[in-house]
Amino acid sequence: MAWFLAAHPDEQALVFEEVAAAFPAHGLPSLDTVLALPCLGRFVKEVMRLAPPVPVVCRTALTDDVLPGSGIKIPAGCSVDVSPFFTQRLPLIYGDDAEAFRPARWEEPLSAVKARAKALGSASLWAAQNAAFPMQRDAASAGRACPVDSPTKPAPPACPHAAEATPPAPVTAVAADDETLEQRIPPTGFMPFILGHRNCIGREFAWQEIVLTTAVMVRRFHWAYSKGQDPPRRGYGVTIMPKPALKFDVTVRED
Ligand code: HEM
Repeated sequence: MAWFLAAHPDEQALVFEEVAAAFPAHGLPSLDTVLALPCLGRFVKEVMRLAPPVPVVCRTALTDDVLPGSGIKIPAGCSVDVSPFFTQRLPLIYGDDAEAFRPARWEEPLSAVKARAKALGSASLWAAQNAAFPMQRDAASAGRACPVDSPTKPAPPACPHAAEATPPAPVTAVAADDETLEQRIPPTGFMPFILGHRNCIGREFAWQEIVLTTAVMVRRFHWAYSKGQDPPRRGYGVTIMPKPALKFDVTVRED
């Protein structure tokens, strides 16, 4: 979090203004007040998008299965890596500037994304397909053969958990121009806590903790890189971390 605060002083200033106005002169605001601060929420969400603490999880298919929506078949025993890190940077979902740290994107209507793609003269998928998430909506890809399938392989047995599964989102029309990213994104587009039966049981608690901690970090201190700090680099393990550790100049705010 400190990395993104120091790297984006303008965004830090926006969050500070909002948080400072919400904190009473003495004491702390209520949890609900802090969780409802829009600038702070977008900032945290954008950090969790570009630096999801768990960049990838691994699963092994117990039975033959089919990915809902795409129709891609997964044979039993197949190892599947699911990566929030890569998914949350897909231009297909986030537009041409998917790599950029831009918290405002969450509130932007689709029309603004298209206009920017046009202004940039980009061959953006947004402009070309006029559809927010064709991977969810493309009925033509349903039933696509899995490359490991042999033509003689019998049809997979029905998934024993099929009855418990949430049915895939219905194939709907394209997103409306006034839909914000927040409204049009499919659940799989933002998944720092993963989805499904084995998702993070601490996600609600963790989210509140991150938002509150960030609010206090920004209210009490100003964050900047220390002089001579090299540009930060990501290290990967089970979790993402800056490597080597970053050094900050942290100043207590007088105001
Ligand atoms: C930023 C904070 C957090 C993130 C990004 C996060 C993310 C995740 C992810 C991606 C998984 C799935 C891992 C996998 O299946 O391989 C997971 C599982 C889990 N998380 Fe979290 N987590 C966070 C905080 C917490 C907290 C605060 C708790 C407990 C209070 C917690 C408890 C768990 C547990 C128990 C599981 C295993 C669930 C299962 O396998 O059924 N997590 N977490």
